[in-house]
Amino acid sequence: MQLLSTSIADEFFREGFVLLRDVANADAVLSDFLVEWRSRSDLPFARRVVLDNLARIPHKSCQDAIETDHMSLHFEMGLPLIPTEEVSRVHALICLHIPKGENASDVATRLLQIDGLLMEQKDVESNLVKYCKKNGAGWKDFNSGRLLCAAQLFDAMQENCELGYMREDRIAQWFNKDAKRASQKGAQKEMDFFAKFGINLRAKEKSFVLKPGDLLIIDNLRVAHGRKGRRPAEELVQYLYGARDISKVEIDSVRERTVHFLTDFL
Ligand SMILES: [Fe+2]
Repeated sequence: MQLLSTSIADEFFREGFVLLRDVANADAVLSDFLVEWRSRSDLPFARRVVLDNLARIPHKSCQDAIETDHMSLHFEMGLPLIPTEEVSRVHALICLHIPKGENASDVATRLLQIDGLLMEQKDVESNLVKYCKKNGAGWKDFNSGRLLCAAQLFDAMQENCELGYMREDRIAQWFNKDAKRASQKGAQKEMDFFAKFGINLRAKEKSFVLKPGDLLIIDNLRVAHGRKGRRPAEELVQYLYGARDISKVEIDSVRERTVHFLTDFL
């Protein structure tokens, strides 16, 4: 098992994600992977990362998440960029699994690595901080200091941001509703937005139709995920690995690491 998790981790650290097939015991594979991941991760709190949440998704109660046929590229619980509380909860890994023997739909999981996305941009860190202070995910007066969607990385680089109206929306509504709350074709809108910055989303993103036995392990702070199609309720088992005691200084280091991936990645 140890050898297996070493090669899995090699691919994970190279790509920001790894897709394993024919997994009979996801719990065992993941706990083995976690040991290897902790020893190699550059996150200062890696050793405190544990299984924080295990759930069947989409939840039956999340009607909007189930009914939309497009989920824009996002970071689970947001990408933390500025510290807003003494201690924060951060999810480092998101793992998606369909147990063997269960049914699987043809809905696709989409992935986008942030590596090098803002290589051509100037003042990336200060623009992200400024944007996050104004448009960080939250509601009413609460601002979590996080970016929810990958598109916001580009929006933050614009003088006049255009996605601010979505700040308080749930992820399933991003790009699917306009500023007047009218429905729109989210997939096309998201693609058009990225195209403005020279990114051909269709070519750049990776997508997988998960089959029974598949286990997808994603670095939630480096790779955004989304969905194409309407997923049946509770089709996936979702494991979220994180820590709930992340200090302000550690959030600062997450931001610096994010900026490094966005700008210096070769
Ligand atoms: Fe998600």
